[in-house]
This record gives sequence, structure tokens and C-alpha cells, in this order.
Amino acid sequence: MKDHRQDIPYHLRVMHWIHLVSIFALVFTGICIRHHIFDRYLVLQKRHHYYFMVIILINLAARFIYAFRDETMTYRDFAIGMEDIRNIPQVLRYYLFLQDDYPHIAKYAAMQKVAYNLFWIMTIVQGYVGFAILRPGILFGWGGNPDVTVIWARSIHAAIMWFFIIMTTVHMYIATIEGFSLLKLMLFGIETEEQQ
Ligand code: HEM
Ligand code: HEM
Repeated sequence: MKDHRQDIPYHLRVMHWIHLVSIFALVFTGICIRHHIFDRYLVLQKRHHYYFMVIILINLAARFIYAFRDETMTYRDFAIGMEDIRNIPQVLRYYLFLQDDYPHIAKYAAMQKVAYNLFWIMTIVQGYVGFAILRPGILFGWGGNPDVTVIWARSIHAAIMWFFIIMTTVHMYIATIEGFSLLKLMLFGIETEEQQ
């Protein structure tokens, strides 16, 4: 595609990199905190979890502003309409290797839109539950005794971590098998010949 570079502008690629590094760092520090791995570095692990939670939340806010304020108006790419829903069976059949292609009716496929929307929704939920670990009395106040609700908050936070691990793995897998040239463009800004 001749103008594909404009499809993935520089700002978008930088924000994607920040998201990628932050998720990896939060998963790593999160697993270490929960399962007492390298326990003597616990303070360091918590401190880095806090740094990256601030970074990911600021980055998410920046991505939101960019989606609505930049002339590319990328928020439209995430909108799911009836046509996308009708397209889901075909996209699923394509992902399951049951058919060679599916109708490309938008920039992202229907399932891709669902996954990308879940990414930002779950980051906000994860942020809320994360802060609830620190202030269970305020943020999970309806749950009763803060000593008990903090256990709930930590368990929900860890469960959502697995959502991120699974979804990011699927996202990475599809990005690799589906369009290696797109992956190089998204991560490193390298255009292949057919994209020039
Ligand atoms: C989005 C913003 C986030 C906030 C505000 C946040 C906040 C927190 C806080 C306050 C803790 C407790 C640390 C402590 O005990 O001092 C924690 C632990 C943890 N975080 Fe996050 N976090 C965020 C994102 C993430 C993400 C994206 C993941 C993984 C995908 C993650 C995985 C974990 C895990 C597994 C723990 C250990 C839970 C436990 O104590 O059993 N966090 N987080
Ligand atoms: C090694 C890890 C990753 C690889 C190889 C990768 C690859 C890609 C590629 C190739 C695209 C472009 C898809 C297209 O234009 O059709 C993309 C877009 C996207 N990726 Fe990733 N990704 C990775 C990690 C992540 C993570 C951790 C997140 C967030 C949790 C994420 C969220 C997104 C989102 C929301 C988009 C849509 C474009 C945007 O708004 O930035 N990705 N990714």
C-alpha cells in the first residue's frame, strides 16, 4: 500500500512501544511481587511497578487525546458497527485456517477491534483495582472489612494480569504470522517494497 507509512504515524508507534515495554515490565514485576520471586528485591520490584503504572496510565491518556484530537481521528478505527459483527464468522473462519481470506471492510478486523478495545478498558480496570490494593477502604469500600477486600483486589488484579498475558500473546502471534511486514513497520518503521 503506497501510503501505509501514514497509516502508522510516528507518534502512534512511540505510544505503542511505551505500551509494550510497560506491559512487559508490569507483568514481570507483578509476577515477582505475587509469587515472591527474587524476594530480596521486593522494594525495588514494587517501586518499578509503581513507575510503570504511572507511565502506562499517562501513555493511555495521551493515546486517548491523540485518538480524538489528531487529524487522523484514529478513534474511528476502533468503532464496532453492525457490519463488523456480521463479518465476525468470516474473520473467525479465517483465523481458524478454514478460509483463505475475509472481506476487509475496515482498517482493523472485527476481532482485532474487540481486542484493542479490551486492551484500553482492562488497563483502566486494572489501574482501579491496583489503586484499590493500596486504598481498599476507599476504592473497595462496599466490600466490607478492608483486610478481606485487599485480598480480593489482589486476586482480581492477578487474574486480569493473565488476561493481559493471554491477549498480548495472541496479539503478538497474529501480528507475526499475519503480516510480518506490518510488524516491522509498526515496531521499527521499516517499509517493505510493496508498502513503498
Ligand atoms: C494500570 C495500572 C496499575 C496499577 C495502578 C497497579 C497497581 C498495583 C499495586 C498498588 C500493587 C501492589 C503492590 C504492593 O503490594 O505494594 C500491584 C501488584 C500487582 N500488579 Fe499491578 N498495577 C497496575 C498494572 C498492572 C498490570 C498491567 C499488571 C499485569 C498485567 C499488573 C500485575 C500485578 C500483579 C500480579 C501484582 C501482585 C498482586 C499481589 O500482590 O498478589 N499490574 N499493582
Ligand atoms: C511484542 C509485542 C507486540 C507486537 C509484535 C505488536 C505488534 C503490533 C502490530 C504489527 C500492530 C499493527 C496492527 C495493524 O495496523 O493492523 C499493532 C497494533 C496495536 N497493538 Fe501491538 N504489538 C505488541 C504488543 C502490544 C501490547 C503489549 C499492547 C497493549 C497491551 C498492544 C496494543 C496494540 C494496539 C492497541 C494496537 C492498535 C494501534 C494502536 O492504537 O497503537 N500491542 N501491534
